[in-house]
Amino acid sequence: MVSRIIPVECFDLVIFGGTGDLARRKILPGLFRRFLGGQMPENARIIGAARSNLDDAEYRDMVAGAITEFGGAEAKDTECLSRFLKQLHYVQVDARGTDGWADLAGLMKPDVIRAFYFSVGPGLFGDLAERLHLHKIADAQSRIVVEKPFGRDLETARALNETLALHFDEQQIYRIDHYLGKETVQNLMAVRFGNVLFEPLWNNHYVDHIQITVAETVGVGGRGGYYDKSGAMRDMVQNHLMQLLCLIAMEPPSMFEADAVRDEKLKVIRALQPVDYHQIVRGQYNATDKTQNYRDDAENPRSHTESFVALKCHINNWRWAGVPFYMRTGKRLKARNSEISVVFKDLGHSIFEGDEARHRNILTIRLQPNEGIDLQVTIKEPGPGGMRLVDVPLDMTFADALGPDADGGSDAYERLIMDVIRGNQTLFMRGDEVEAAWSWTDPIINGWQERNDVPKEYDTGSSGPEDSLMLLHRDGRRWHEIKA
Ligand code: NDP
Ligand code: BG6
Repeated sequence: MVSRIIPVECFDLVIFGGTGDLARRKILPGLFRRFLGGQMPENARIIGAARSNLDDAEYRDMVAGAITEFGGAEAKDTECLSRFLKQLHYVQVDARGTDGWADLAGLMKPDVIRAFYFSVGPGLFGDLAERLHLHKIADAQSRIVVEKPFGRDLETARALNETLALHFDEQQIYRIDHYLGKETVQNLMAVRFGNVLFEPLWNNHYVDHIQITVAETVGVGGRGGYYDKSGAMRDMVQNHLMQLLCLIAMEPPSMFEADAVRDEKLKVIRALQPVDYHQIVRGQYNATDKTQNYRDDAENPRSHTESFVALKCHINNWRWAGVPFYMRTGKRLKARNSEISVVFKDLGHSIFEGDEARHRNILTIRLQPNEGIDLQVTIKEPGPGGMRLVDVPLDMTFADALGPDADGGSDAYERLIMDVIRGNQTLFMRGDEVEAAWSWTDPIINGWQERNDVPKEYDTGSSGPEDSLMLLHRDGRRWHEIKA
């Protein structure tokens, strides 16, 4: 299958924090893949910026190392890699000081798109925004890309929005949630709004409930310091899971265009009913023989931070009244498996004699691994013996249907960075969306703090705490099994 690549205009992309972990693991290898994909014009430049004392050659060496380590098979193309590296530069800059800013200003080309990736701690966002203006490096067409965490509650998110708004318009601010760059997450919109099949059924007349699972096998080792102050609610639910919820539940936007899509997502968040604490389960992983427990990983022996959350919520609107949405996410679970399941209601009446089994249609959108969609349908069991019914999946695994390059081999980050250059904000969070999401999660987190809530322990390699299974059992339902 030949993919249609949309070329981008010439650009200067400055990566503040260009020597950091995110830049090395995701941003730079991703940009190299876009270079290989023919999407980086020859005179486009990537400028790393940080406090470390490096020249261009040393920076290129560092980037070559990062791409070799994290870039996958493509990194073996040494001829292309050396051509890519020529488009890289480095400036030593202190976000909080005066050093380096005049050099950066002098390096920028006129008449090309300027994008500034803030791949540094959020405490530096305001400093960077201020200095980009002070030194006249950013103009009205410039874009800034900011990383999560976008605040740690409503108050801090609002303060951050206000700080950025002092120097940049909302149209210039690209708040990254890398889940929105995932191929299947975008496919969710294609499936819903590109087919006549699903939309008529997408409501409380036909849908029994919806499940969203983002299960990980990794623990928090290596980033325990950050994670222990955050927890699964802030790290995953407030952003990634809520974005998935929005895409599954929103009304059709009038156009696939930034504000039309974001307006609809915002309406979903605003319609979310506050969650009763009985409808939430918090968990923390416990060691098995071969692994550490959460408290060791987080280096905090008394930590009550959750590495798992499961909850049931409702959206108070005409379409979804009465339909529960169950969400769960956790670390060190039995498999890396993220999916959304839309479970349709039972048939009102079965015409098949003796058919006592409960046959249900379930549409499952698999985000990772093994991206694809399957629809559970009921058919006649093959062979003689009368009309016996059986449920089978109509499976569309993208790699089978579209070939191994179904996702163009690209990663969420590179796709989103190219959208920044194109000036397309559809897959980025707007400031009011982020604030609305915090307004919903803050009372949950504050409630835990007020009650000194202690998370339930769960075994590494399990499906999470028993109580999370009970969350659905109480309603006569069960989670889709977490399997690799
Ligand atoms: P790192 O600590 O690995 O890197 C921080 C970078 O910022 C380094 O390049 C550092 O270089 C630079 N830096 C620090 N202080 C200054 C300063 N005063 N002036 C200029 N540059 C400075 O962090 P990460 O790369 O892991 O994370 C970056 C951001 O991305 C954070 O906001 C993080 O929360 C977010 N994020 C990270 C993810 C990841 O997988 N790593 C995932 C999602 C979000 P130097 O010391 O040379 O100045
Ligand atoms: C990040 C979280 O935003 O997403 C991590 O901070 C998490 O804790 C990661 O592991 C999951 O992303 P992915 O793309 O691996 O599902």
